Amino acid sequence: MNLLGSLFSSSLGRKFLMAATGLVLFGFVTGHLLGNLQVFLPPEKINAYGHMLESLGAGLWLIRLFLLACVVIHVWLAIQLTLENRAARPQDYGVTHTNRATLASRVMARTGLVVLAFILFHLAHFTVRIGHPQWSEHTFTLLNGTKVRDIHTMMVQGFSNVGVSVFYIIAVGLLSYHLAHGIVSMLQTLGLKNEKWTLGLERFAVAYCWGYFLLNAAIPVAVLGGLVKLHA
Ligand code: HEM
Repeated sequence: MNLLGSLFSSSLGRKFLMAATGLVLFGFVTGHLLGNLQVFLPPEKINAYGHMLESLGAGLWLIRLFLLACVVIHVWLAIQLTLENRAARPQDYGVTHTNRATLASRVMARTGLVVLAFILFHLAHFTVRIGHPQWSEHTFTLLNGTKVRDIHTMMVQGFSNVGVSVFYIIAVGLLSYHLAHGIVSMLQTLGLKNEKWTLGLERFAVAYCWGYFLLNAAIPVAVLGGLVKLHA
């Protein structure tokens, strides 16, 4: 059997793939947050950044395909893991068994599902721009004279809708919760978690995820509070 086949078929291999794809997606959401935080700077910054990404052309599509493959593998393995855990759980004849591992994986499955639904909504909202065709036409002229898409205006108009902003905040809250558990189990799978480091790593994961949540939530809150507004 080839290496990829054995990775998918052994339980250790599946755990490794789950951790590796999780690590890639963790890197993406962190990088995406750093890019989005530029909305707090003059509009030139985030619009130039969006333009730089778009000008990667085929390279951007390769990155998108790679990320999509990671999402598919991560979700596929998560479904398998949930089914395996369910099958291994003893028959409970009306008695509730609260085993830490199954509780954590149940929470991971549920928060993961909401994050997946959020990604679909988010792509329809900001990337396909369903219901907002004007967001594809708004342009911004950079200091060097280049006309680019006005992402700053799209973000301000998008988050001016209270319902949309509340949904984003709830979704990033659940994503942060998902990440907090995911980071610890990823480090465990990759062999980086041991007796000496456990408490420190768990504290790091919780602190990181609080930071991740608060910084993400700050964007819609700043728009609703009038701190980030439409530029002239
Ligand atoms: C407040 C939080 C967020 C803001 C303000 C935000 C903003 C944006 C913006 C402006 C775009 C670009 C759309 C365009 O090309 O016009 C985008 C794309 C995207 N976002 Fe987010 N995002 C947020 C959170 C997230 C989260 C938590 C995830 C993943 C779980 C995510 C996943 C994506 C993906 C997959 C794309 C498409 C990238 C591409 O096609 O190149 N975003 N986001």
